[in-house]
Amino acid sequence: MEDKIRALSDRALEELEKADTAEALEAWRLSYLSRKGELNSLMSGLRDAAPEDRPRLGQEINRLKVSLQEGFTARQERFEEERRSRAVSAEQVDVTLPGIPPSPGRLHLTTLTLRKICRIFHGMGFEVLESPEVESDEYNFEMLNMPPHHPARDMWDTFYLTESVLLRTHTSPGQIHAMLPASPKPLRVILPGRCYRYEAVTARSEFMFYQVEGLAVGPHITLSHLKGVLETFARQMFGEERTIRFRGSYFPFTEPSVEVDMDCILCHGRGCRICKGTGWLEIAGAGMVHPKVLENGGYDPKEHSGLAFGMGPERIAMLINRVDDIRYFYSNDLRFLSQYS
Ligand code: PHE
Repeated sequence: MEDKIRALSDRALEELEKADTAEALEAWRLSYLSRKGELNSLMSGLRDAAPEDRPRLGQEINRLKVSLQEGFTARQERFEEERRSRAVSAEQVDVTLPGIPPSPGRLHLTTLTLRKICRIFHGMGFEVLESPEVESDEYNFEMLNMPPHHPARDMWDTFYLTESVLLRTHTSPGQIHAMLPASPKPLRVILPGRCYRYEAVTARSEFMFYQVEGLAVGPHITLSHLKGVLETFARQMFGEERTIRFRGSYFPFTEPSVEVDMDCILCHGRGCRICKGTGWLEIAGAGMVHPKVLENGGYDPKEHSGLAFGMGPERIAMLINRVDDIRYFYSNDLRFLSQYS
């Protein structure tokens, strides 16, 4: 019996060492350790041994069982280890191959356009300021001569954060922010920034877009200054041959108010698809700062006057690049965005 135990131990351990596939390991386990395996039949053989030998032999068989189980676990772990390292070496990378070049990214079309606009106005002595995107009703409307229930508020519906705090609908509240700390000194600023409107998103309008506000206040600012500034801008932005025209309009915060048109960059005024046959393209809303707004900004309208305008940089970029849908700007499609740099 003892010989049998020793022989089984030697054979089992030797075979275990040779088992080098998952299937061989499993076959080994079945033939030695399973219910019908050799170890169990050795155990049943105990019946034939002399009664006084049984406890000792039983203990020996149990020791063998433990050692085979431990041997099996160890072999299994080693096998796993080997399999992993084979997988790693199969995956080895050639570090001398050229890598994937990191893409440096680029500026957004809106940013490019804003920078160009700022540069042009900077050349005319305008300082660049920024004012908050989250505004109070007071700044967005009341200080701009639109008391509560003023019908003109309908032109600018927006997202309200509370009853009196909202996402600004235009950059015009920046006029007040710029004037208050500067009054009564002459002032020349542009204010680029994001605006929001509660509107259906279409090819022509987004709920979020940019504006560039312009404001100049001084003792003798006139409508001709406004025209000169905007014509200079149109020529530098769209080409030397541009002309502009004013059309009477209405804004509560300017008096008089105008819409600013520029002759069509495609057909030069003859009429085409871009200008819808009119020969003109609208590029800004503008006017002379309303006396009440000057007062709200701390200026005395008898001593100072001001010009103001507001334009949409996306629209300007659309005209220059013949983009026919404003939704391309903020839908993050690189096929569109990567065309501009
Ligand atoms: N704030 C106006 C708008 O959003 C544009 C404007 C600005 C008009 C300044 C006149 C003066 O439509």
